[in-house]
Amino acid sequence: MKNIRKKTILITGGNGYIGSCLALVAIKKFNIIIIDKNAKNRFVKNKRILNFRFNINNASKLNKIVKKFTPDIIIHLAAQSTLDFINLKRHSYLDDNIKGTKNIIDVCIKNNIKKLIFSSTASVYKEKNKPLKETDSLKPNNLYGKTKLTNEKYIQKLLKYQETKYCILRFFNVCSALKKYNIGEFHSPETHLLPKVINAISNKQIIKIYGNNYKTYDGTCVRDFIHIEDVVSGILKSINYLEKNNSSIFNLGSSKETSVLEIINRCSKLIKNSPKINICKRRKGDVSKLNCKIQKAKNKLKWKPKNSNLSKIISDEIWWLNYLNRKKIKRNIFNNK
Ligand SMILES: NC(=O)c1ccc[n+]([C@@H]2O[C@H](COP(=O)([O-])OP(=O)(O)OC[C@H]3O[C@@H](n4cnc5c(N)ncnc54)[C@H](O)[C@@H]3O)[C@@H](O)[C@H]2O)c1
Repeated sequence: MKNIRKKTILITGGNGYIGSCLALVAIKKFNIIIIDKNAKNRFVKNKRILNFRFNINNASKLNKIVKKFTPDIIIHLAAQSTLDFINLKRHSYLDDNIKGTKNIIDVCIKNNIKKLIFSSTASVYKEKNKPLKETDSLKPNNLYGKTKLTNEKYIQKLLKYQETKYCILRFFNVCSALKKYNIGEFHSPETHLLPKVINAISNKQIIKIYGNNYKTYDGTCVRDFIHIEDVVSGILKSINYLEKNNSSIFNLGSSKETSVLEIINRCSKLIKNSPKINICKRRKGDVSKLNCKIQKAKNKLKWKPKNSNLSKIISDEIWWLNYLNRKKIKRNIFNNK
C-alpha cells in the first residue's frame, strides 16, 4: 500500500477562537503545529496538536520552528483585533499585526514554504451601501483594518516572484460554536456582538445599541455573520485551491444582511426574555453596512456557507453559552462605558 505522508499545517494564533476550531477539525487530516503568544486553549484537549508559546515578532524563534518542521502550509491567524483597547495598546497592536506578518512572509521565503493563508477582514473595504466584492475599493476607517490592508499589500508585493502561493481570506463577522467539538467563541474579554447580546438577554442586562439613525433597513448597523463551521471549511477549501498553484483574495461571509436590532430580537425570541435596550451615540470607526458577495469563493474554492443561517448561528451560540454554564466556566464580557 502507498504510504501517503500527512501534510503539516502551522497555525499562528492557533490558540484563539478561529485557530483552535480549525485545529480540532483539521487534525483528522493533517499534522498540526500551533504558535501562539497565549497559553493553550482550554477547550482543546487533543494531544496530537503541538503547541509552541511565543510571539511571532521573535523572528529567530519563528525561523527555528519553521526550519525544524518545514510545514506544507502556514495559516497565519495571529493578530490583535479588538478595537476597544486600540488606544491603550497602539504600539503592541502595530508590532503584532505588522511586524509579525512581515516575519511570517520572511520565513516563508527563507524556508521555501509553498502555501500561505492569511486572515484578513471586512474592515479593509471602503464603506459602500452595497454588498462588497473583492475588487471593490479599499479604505479602512480604523487602525485594525489599516494594519490588515498593509499586510495584504506586503504579501502581494513580497511574494509576487516567489514560489509561495497565497490566499488572502477576508473574514466577515465570524461567530457561533462547533457543537461536535465542544468549542466556541471565547475571547477574553468578549467584545463580539452575538455572545454579548446572548449574555445580556439571558442575564436581563442592558444592551447598548450604538446608533439607530444609519441608512439601513431599521437604522442600526448591518453586518454579515458567518458561522465558524463555514469559516473553517473555507480555510480548508483554500488549501485545495493553493494545491493548484494559484494565489488570490476571497471574501468569506454569508452574503446575508443582518442588523444589530435583528440579532437582538431573534436572540430574545429564542431565549424567551425581552431585551433591555439603550440607544447610545454612534461609535467612532463603525460603518453603517458591511456585507459581501461570495460568488468568487463559490466558483473558485467550490465553497458554500452551509451553516450561516441566523437561526443556526444563534442556536449554536446559545448552546455554547449553556455548555459554559454547565461547566461553570465564567465568561469575561466587555462592557463599553
Ligand atoms: N473573529 C472574527 O470575527 C474575525 C473577523 C475578521 C478577521 N478575523 C481575523 O482572524 C484571525 C483570528 O481571529 P480570532 O477571532 O480567532 O482572534 P483571537 O483573538 O481569538 O485569536 C488570535 C490569537 O492570536 C494570538 N496572537 C496575537 N498576536 C500574536 C503574536 N504576535 N504572536 C503570537 N500569537 C499572537 C493571540 O494570542 C490569540 O490567541 C485574526 O487575525 C483576526 O484579525 C477575525
